[in-house]
Parts: sequence; C-alpha cells; structure tokens
Amino acid sequence: MKKTILAYCLIATLVLSVSCTDVPQFGKASNSKVIKAMTLEEKVNLLVGVGAWNGDDIAQEIKDAKNLIPGCAGQTYPIPRLGIPSVMLPDGPGGLRINPTRQDDDNTYYCTSFPVATLLAQSWNTQLVQEVGTAIGDEVKRYGADCLLAPALNLHRNPLLGRSFEYYSEDPVISGKIAAAMVRGVQSNGVGATIKHYALNNQETNRMANDVHVDSKTARELYLKGFEIAVRQSQPWAVMTSYNKVNGTYAPENEALIEQILRNEWGFEGMVMTDWGGGRNAVATVKAGNDLIMPGSANQIKAIIDAVQNGTLDEQIIDRNVERVLDFIARSPKAQGYMFQNDPDLAQHATISRSSATEGMVLLKNNGVLPFSSDCKTIALYGVSSYDMYVVGTGSGSVNYKHAVGLDEGLKAAGYKLEPSVYRVYSEYVNDHKEAANPGNFMRTNLTNHVIPQSLVRKPYQYRADAISSDVAIITIGRSCGESADRGYENDYLLTDIETGLIKDICDAFHFKNKKVVVILNIGAPIETASWKQYPDAILLAGLPGQEAGHAIADVLKGAVNPSGKLVDTYVKDYMQMPSTANFPVNARELQAAARSNRNNPDAKPIPNYDYTDYYERMDIGYRYYDKHPEQVSYPFGFGLSYTTFQYSNPQASYDDGQITLSIKVTNTGKTAGKEAVQIYIEAPKSRLDGIVKELKTYAKTTLLQPGDSQVLEFKLSEYDLAGYESDDSVWKTYAGEYKADFAASSQDIRCQSTFSIPFEQTYPAFGSL
Ligand code: BGC
Repeated sequence: MKKTILAYCLIATLVLSVSCTDVPQFGKASNSKVIKAMTLEEKVNLLVGVGAWNGDDIAQEIKDAKNLIPGCAGQTYPIPRLGIPSVMLPDGPGGLRINPTRQDDDNTYYCTSFPVATLLAQSWNTQLVQEVGTAIGDEVKRYGADCLLAPALNLHRNPLLGRSFEYYSEDPVISGKIAAAMVRGVQSNGVGATIKHYALNNQETNRMANDVHVDSKTARELYLKGFEIAVRQSQPWAVMTSYNKVNGTYAPENEALIEQILRNEWGFEGMVMTDWGGGRNAVATVKAGNDLIMPGSANQIKAIIDAVQNGTLDEQIIDRNVERVLDFIARSPKAQGYMFQNDPDLAQHATISRSSATEGMVLLKNNGVLPFSSDCKTIALYGVSSYDMYVVGTGSGSVNYKHAVGLDEGLKAAGYKLEPSVYRVYSEYVNDHKEAANPGNFMRTNLTNHVIPQSLVRKPYQYRADAISSDVAIITIGRSCGESADRGYENDYLLTDIETGLIKDICDAFHFKNKKVVVILNIGAPIETASWKQYPDAILLAGLPGQEAGHAIADVLKGAVNPSGKLVDTYVKDYMQMPSTANFPVNARELQAAARSNRNNPDAKPIPNYDYTDYYERMDIGYRYYDKHPEQVSYPFGFGLSYTTFQYSNPQASYDDGQITLSIKVTNTGKTAGKEAVQIYIEAPKSRLDGIVKELKTYAKTTLLQPGDSQVLEFKLSEYDLAGYESDDSVWKTYAGEYKADFAASSQDIRCQSTFSIPFEQTYPAFGSL
C-alpha cells in the first residue's frame, strides 16, 4: 500500500515540478488556454489511451501510471508539462475489478463482488441499486481509480447472449432506470460511471465486426431507449461505444449515434470512449465524436497526426474532443488531488452485497415448503454448484473478491445440518476438481464446469436413504457465462439428461417419504424450465448473487428475508420458437469454422449471424411478443412469488398539463412482512403500438409492509414517456386519445386498470438517422 501511495506522490510531484510559470497549468488555467498551449502530438496523445503494452520503451510517466493500480483496464495519457494527470479506468459491472495482490507487496486489494446486473434489476428497487452503486464507487475512489467502466445495459435480445449477466433485462425501461440508479450511486462519490456498450451489442459471436441490421423504430424504442433513459436521468461521466457495426458503420465511427442522438437529442454532456480495441479507423472515430480511443496504440496516434498534417482531419475536431477529455479528467479524484488510502470498508460492503442479493432473488415456485419450518433441520444438499457457487460471470465483468460463500457454508451458518453422506460425495468432488485459487485471473471461476457429472449420480436406493436421514433436499443447478462467447443450447440452456434425471429421481425418493425438494438456479441467464418444473416443490432463481451467495440464499430459504424479486426476462417454453432465435448465432462454433474457411476466399458471401445479424423480429422481444402468445411462456416477465400475498386497490390515473399521475394502494393481506414490486404497463390508443399489447413504462416497490399494512404508491409519467418513434417522419410522437394503465404484479397478472386521456398529439424532434 505504501509503495502505491509513494508512486502516486511521485507522479503528483513530477506533475507539479515540471510546471513552469509561463505554461498554462491544467486545473489552474482555463481548458481553452491549456489546449492552446498543447502541441498536436500532446493533443492526440490525450485522445488515445496509454495502451495495453508495458514494454521497456515507454515513457517513465506512463510506466508510473500503469503501475499505480495493477489490473486496472486502462488509463488516459499523462502530460506532466501541463499538469494533466493520467486517470484510471477500471471495470466493471459486478464490482471493481483490479488485481488483488501486487508484486513485492504483502497487502491485498480485494474488491467486493456484488450481485450481477440482472439480479440487481430483479429487485425492482432503484434505491437499493443506488446503494450498491454508492458502495462500488467508494471502492473505486478508495483504491485510487477515477471512472468505473460500468454499468452495462445492452438488452437481453436472446437468452444465449454470453454477457447477459452484465446486462439488466429484455426491457429498456427497467434497464435504463436501474442503470441510472447505479450511475447516481457510483457518481455520488465524486468518481465517474460509464454506460456501455453503446449500442446494439447483443451477441458475443464476432462481436468485434458483426454488423447489426436494424430498423430505426426498433433501434430507438428498444435498443437505444435504455441508454436514453440512463443519460437523461443520471448524466454519466462517460459512454463507451460498442465494437459492432450498426447498419454498416462501426459504432465508434457512427456520428449519428454519438454526436446527433447521444449529444444533440439526449443532451449528453460527458465523454465518449471506445471499447478496448474498438475504433478501427482512428480518424473516423475522432471525427464521429468518439473522444477517447482505448486502450490506445502508437499506430492510432500516428494515423491521427498524419490525417491532421495531410489536411484530411481538421484540427478543430481534435480540439473539440480534447476539450471533452479535459473536462472529464478535471472532475476526477486524481485531478482534484484526492489522496487515496486503499481502505474501503469491505465488511460493510459485504453486508450490502448480501442484502441486495436476497432482494433480487426470484421465487418461481413454492408448494408450501418455503420458508423452511422449524422442523427442518437436516438438508440433503445436491449439485456441484451448492458447494462451489458461481457468484459472477467471466471476463471483464468478473471481480477479484476474497471469498465466495458456498451454499453449504451459508446453510451451516444459518443453523442447518447437512446430510453427511451427500455432503461427503459432493464436497470431495469439488475439492478434487477445484482449480487452485488464482486471484487476478481475468477468466476467474472456480470449477469451470458445474454440470453434474455421471460420477455423482446416486442409485435410487441411496436417494431413499438420504430422504430418511434428512428433512428436505436442495439441488442446485449451475451455469456460468461470460465475455467473448455466447452460450450453448444443449447442455447449457437445456439441462443435461443427467440433471433432469437427478431432479426426477431425488423428487421421487423424497416425495415417497413425504419430504420436499427445492431447486436453486445458480445461473447467469435464463434456462429451460418447462420440462422439469413440475417435479420439485419449490424453485428459487438465485442468479449470480455475488460473494455472499450462500448466506443470501440461506436468508431466503429460512425466511429471514421474504423474497420480493421479480423476473426481468421472459422464461419461455420453447427457445427455438423465440422470434430472435432465427437470427442469433445459436450454432456459434459452426459459424466460426465457416468464417475461418471464408478468410482466404475473395468470393465468399457474408455469413448471417456472424458477419451480420438481421433483427427481423423487430419489437417482438420478450413480453412484447409473449403477451400475444402467453401459452408459450413458462414464467412471464415481471413474475415472482412471495411468502405473503398483496391486494391492489383504488387505482387512479389522471392527466394534467402534460403530466400523468398514477397511484395504487397495496395491502399486505398475508401473515408475513414483505415488499411488492408494482409494474405499470400502458396500453396506448390504436395504431401507436403496432401490434404490441402493452409496454412497461414505470414501476415502484413498496417498503417492507407488515401484515395488514398498506402503502399508496404514486407514479409520474411525462407525455414524452409515452411517445413512439415514427420512422417515416423521423420524429417521436405521442398520440392523443385514451390510454389504459395496467397496475400489474407481472406482465400476465394485471390486478387493476384505470384510464387517462391525452388531449393533443405531441411531436418531438429526433436527430440522426441510423
Ligand atoms: C469489454 C468492456 C471492458 C473492456 C476493458 C472489453 O473487452 O467489452 O466491457 O470494459 O474490455 O476491460
């Protein structure tokens, strides 16, 4: 720790000592004066990060910047002559990701692994997400970094998307509002947040070059909407563009996306950076208004300088971007002189991680087994994941936490005994197969494959014996996912035959003895549930719950916390019938092989779902499609059970002077204290919805209501919130007419309705054509 602070002080001293009175100093002189004093090379350096390399040939000040926080994803270029520090940009969505150990340093730098984005969204609790953001931002600041590379909010277009866990939902409204809460929380510390990956990065297969073909209405109303909401509601310091192309132009080179839509239309005031390795054509990237190219390379610097010198790039464009980078740096703790101490309160953050995890878990089924009664003392705990939980996905969204609490550990801490013979078999398997802890490993997981192996399948008579020596069975199904690859269908989205057989056999044996079975889903994205959900007595979607996993699940099973999470994705009966599946790289391996053999063939045709992806399903994503086909749904969007029941009454809706006010009274009619997430879906008049039944427009959650207690929830919407994008005229339009407000417990459980009327049609300008 001391060394790090010493390094920081040296940089600060270097920055100050090189200053001389006649050179304008950043932070003292105005940015325009600083820019005037910069050489072209200095300006361009500032637009390109310090690079991913760490060779001997780099300048000392860059070496110092790189060594300041090992494991930090990137840094801006320092210019000591002008007093411009290097600011540190670390990942990511599930918590800060830096290396936990450092060379020649006995201290550790672990970070807290919080529940992943999808799980946080499932809480439907913006206040809670803001608290998580505040805790993550605190770690960013106290470990000496400046701007977090999160939150990420691409939509779950298809459940096989590899990075689903880093993203919130299939729906843009919940994605945007939760992302805004996360940004507000992170930025309340005086550090920045970055919303990413802007835009339409909805598959990992060939993510660096895939061309998304999308119509402007679908793009605006679905895939850009969450970004719009997050920008308008939270003004993040930065936006990260995605790797992919949108209708033929790479996102970082896409002026319509960046300058026109993001800045002119939505009023974004911050800085735009590329994803790591994005921005292939550095000059086009600069011109499009993508201010910072990350992680940066010498070739990019040269290309930009050459373009200015040969007159193909106007230096004024460079100055525009430099000014935005300087504004960004000026706000950073580094520029503000904050002296970090590497002292986050990890114990307190663990508490926040645990409570937010319990609030995001979704109880999908409960036939009277949960919460466990006081007679339940001994648990037969099956499933590899029970003993080695997936707490976060892999890739840049992973976190180097100190310890992940397994479900075995969590249940024991909650006072349960584990049936010894089952415990022995599984824990021995896990110990034998667990890779050595490898802190700092980018792809960190413990066991990489949690699918239950044949060797752990017990004979039916053994399950019957387990049922005698325990009170209840728990089976955990585990699935990880991560950056760079999409998920598979067989043995991943689908359960394996072994897993389905195991669930059936255990349920048979336990039910025969009048004992119950609970399935825990320790998964990063939806899986198939329809074919096996009838067997167990309860199913809890625990998601990827962060480092306190086992404690958080035990809290819900025991009833210390009443589950109040609700789905933010539709769990469908048949994946193959989902409209987006026809145009998603389900067979990624075959596509990759075809792309390899195409490489040396000049006549090769572009490969669908690899070189390009058609979004033919348009708005038929998630509940927007399944509202029209409810019979194809296993668990609907917005669904989640509780240990209590809620009654909705007195729905109100009114329009006054451009504002819609809605309210509903929610009463806890059961015997247990609990919280209820209420969703507001709006049914617009006639043609506006283009075949869609209704759309989520806002939501709210009650406080913890004691049995018999009520709360009136109030919601506000603007006319613009109800606008649709009119592709022919390139405008947003709110129709006049009567609207229906659905007060719903899920997308398929509308409890009350009310209506309001908008007297006059409204149009709003839209900029930029995609
Ligand atoms: C990811 C980003 C991440 C960056 C830096 C990229 O591969 O797509 O989400 O922030 O790496 O680690």
